[in-house]
Amino acid sequence: MVVAVVTGATGFTGKAVVAELLKRGIQAVAHVRPDSHDLPRWQAYFAELGAEVDTTPWQPHAMASMLQKRAAVLVFCCVGTTRARMKAQGAAQNSYEAVDYALPKLLAEASAAAGCVRRFVYLSSLGAGPNAQGAYLQWRWKAEEAVRAAGVPFTIARPSLITGERDERRPSEAFAGKALDGLLSVVGALGATTLRDRYHSTTDARLAGALVRIGLDPDMAGQTVLAEKLS
Ligand SMILES: NC(=O)c1ccc[n+]([C@@H]2O[C@H](COP(=O)([O-])OP(=O)(O)OC[C@H]3O[C@@H](n4cnc5c(N)ncnc54)[C@H](OP(=O)(O)O)[C@@H]3O)[C@@H](O)[C@H]2O)c1
Repeated sequence: MVVAVVTGATGFTGKAVVAELLKRGIQAVAHVRPDSHDLPRWQAYFAELGAEVDTTPWQPHAMASMLQKRAAVLVFCCVGTTRARMKAQGAAQNSYEAVDYALPKLLAEASAAAGCVRRFVYLSSLGAGPNAQGAYLQWRWKAEEAVRAAGVPFTIARPSLITGERDERRPSEAFAGKALDGLLSVVGALGATTLRDRYHSTTDARLAGALVRIGLDPDMAGQTVLAEKLS
């Protein structure tokens, strides 16, 4: 039985990845941070889906030993913070550096140390790059580089906007998705189909399907996969 561990499992994309794994008959372990305020709710939610919950702390040795004990073959890293979260819950613990960079780095290194992980799938973002504009994309690039250097077989995914029905309201994201797709359909009709396909939004379910597919595809090891191949 293939075992996959999903971190950020309580998030929009993470939940969809857990569901996609179960749909494919893969044993899914949903990682929920031990200090989650909603742990009982998540335990009930994932039990109903048929996934186990793991609450290992975000510490290098603890994570490596958990992955080893579970004989995890696939690891999905779907964690990330937001500006709203930094504002509401404190910038120090919720900064891009502390979450978007430090957690993927720790997890990729723990996955390499565990020795059993055959693919580490890191959910990054379109626009990440060495000369990216803005703190978010710059930290995403640093996280990508840390994943590449960790010594675990990896695939990095860079989606465009992720839209769909979130538990948490993000009206500006939904509006941006619609506006972007509207503009891109005009651009596509004028012939710029590569541009349209690159920036078009995706949904949580479509993205999850693509993340699991690229995680299982031997040809995708060591690749950075852009938005047009994630729908
Ligand atoms: N949304 C988009 O349009 C978009 C586009 C491209 C790329 N991305 C990237 O894709 C990733 C997933 O996006 P999403 O929309 O699915 O995110 P999301 O719904 O906001 O979920 C984020 C996940 O990260 C976890 N997390 C946040 N801070 C944490 C911390 N300090 N310690 C441990 N876990 C923490 C959350 O856990 P809790 O539930 O416990 O807080 C949650 O499981 C993000 O990193 C984002 O940057 C997003």
